[in-house]
Amino acid sequence: MNRRELLKAGMVLAAGPGVAKALRGLDGGPPGLETRLAGDPRRPQFHLLPKRNWMNDPNGPVYWRGKYHMFFQYNPDGAYWGDMHWGHAVSPDMVYWKHLPVALAPTPGGPDAQGCFSGTAVIDGDEVAVLYTGVVSVPEAVATLRDGVHSFRETQCLATSDDPELKVWRKRAQPVIAAPPKGMRETGFRDPSPWRQGDEWYMTVGSGVPREGGAVLLYRSKDLKHWEYLHPVASGAGEGKGGANPVDTGDMWECPELFPLGGKHVLIYSARGHVHWQSGVLDERTMLFHAERYGELDYGTYYAAKTQVDAKGNRIVWGWINETRPLAEYKAAGWAGMMSLPRVLTLRADGSLGIAALGTVRELRGDERRLIPGADAEAECRRLTIEAATGEMVASFASGKAFAAELVGRLPSGEMAEPIMTLSYDPADGNAVTVDGVRVPATGGDGIEAHLYIDGSVVELIVNRSAAYTKRFYYAGNEAPAVRLRVKAPAGTLRDLRVWPVKPISADRLTT
Ligand code: FRU
Repeated sequence: MNRRELLKAGMVLAAGPGVAKALRGLDGGPPGLETRLAGDPRRPQFHLLPKRNWMNDPNGPVYWRGKYHMFFQYNPDGAYWGDMHWGHAVSPDMVYWKHLPVALAPTPGGPDAQGCFSGTAVIDGDEVAVLYTGVVSVPEAVATLRDGVHSFRETQCLATSDDPELKVWRKRAQPVIAAPPKGMRETGFRDPSPWRQGDEWYMTVGSGVPREGGAVLLYRSKDLKHWEYLHPVASGAGEGKGGANPVDTGDMWECPELFPLGGKHVLIYSARGHVHWQSGVLDERTMLFHAERYGELDYGTYYAAKTQVDAKGNRIVWGWINETRPLAEYKAAGWAGMMSLPRVLTLRADGSLGIAALGTVRELRGDERRLIPGADAEAECRRLTIEAATGEMVASFASGKAFAAELVGRLPSGEMAEPIMTLSYDPADGNAVTVDGVRVPATGGDGIEAHLYIDGSVVELIVNRSAAYTKRFYYAGNEAPAVRLRVKAPAGTLRDLRVWPVKPISADRLTT
């Protein structure tokens, strides 16, 4: 369900948030909620999410003074979209997290009075600067965001901090970009993403033109405060027919980001429910991007991705993993959404992306159990069960052999009716694995490797270290299922299977 559908289903944007709410931060909530959330088996054990309530996009991940800071779109009022603040968490390693108070809250009367939307953090000398989109409600005729429910004016705002913990932020009272380029008929104007290049700052902003397609607007600045519009650095065709929400038709590209990788450049943006990537060449003379290869960053439930560079120079990508259950259910559950695991991006020789979970995630592994070669595959799959839906699994299938496999769950009451995930492969169909009916590219490597991270109600699957598919799964009750693989294929097709329990990153599912 996208945001417009959620809102249509009865949610409205909370008007006039304010200081009291901001101070409340991540605490508050009805009595008993914390205990209920800490015991909710669907709440992950090794993914980052707020103590309670709604989160969406990762915002401004940054390595600052030896710590990793993550911000994210957060609603302090409940487990539904609205009243956007920037939640905040800190980590020594991008695996273990500690919550900090809300970093940015809407300022009544300010350019972000109705919400602090997504943005980026950059290090500027002795301080961290955040560029983000502020929104205020305005009549539709003068709005830059019209999605069938809202009319917002979007402007690009600046906040800075020199606090070692990044808890204290100073906002610039006026936007640094007050309007889209003159004369443009825009479908939206948000999610700024600056970077340093030579002596200057460049910045992309997500946008597009009705019935023409999405666009990434490029700006330039000397000081992060005064910006000059250059041109669209990239653009693409939408469906050409328009619609209530331009994001759904590809006429609006959200959360664009352009970054160097492996000697080339990669552009990512979010539209039509997915994060798209393009790799190619950024001509630094014309500042135009020429795409050569295309794909999706994740073929499942994963949106609004955002990258950062870690202390070792790796390009890390984070994504928002949304709920796929009905609004009423997650609202009642008291939490909604989580952050993906940190994934390292690399550029392969053919211009496609390499994707792997960050190596430090492995430190959460308990004892490895492994398939005994030559033993009965079905019996081995049964033996290699992951208890309480908290674990990691790597299944390797022999090259050139077709298979069908399912990830199945068993609750104390019995086997779950539906498989958690289905996978199948037929070499005659080309280089792709079909996951839940979706074709996920499977190139590189010898055979098929399915790497699965299973955590309460989410599975992050990475195929052949190059393509991802994220899935949410749900069940009733207070116990998580035991999860295992079931394989339908001739003997020898399942070449290897390794499983690990995964240690929780907190004692209480990050509810404190
Ligand atoms: C993407 C998005 C962004 C926006 C934010 C608002 O999910 O729509 O474009 O800044 O969410 O929460």
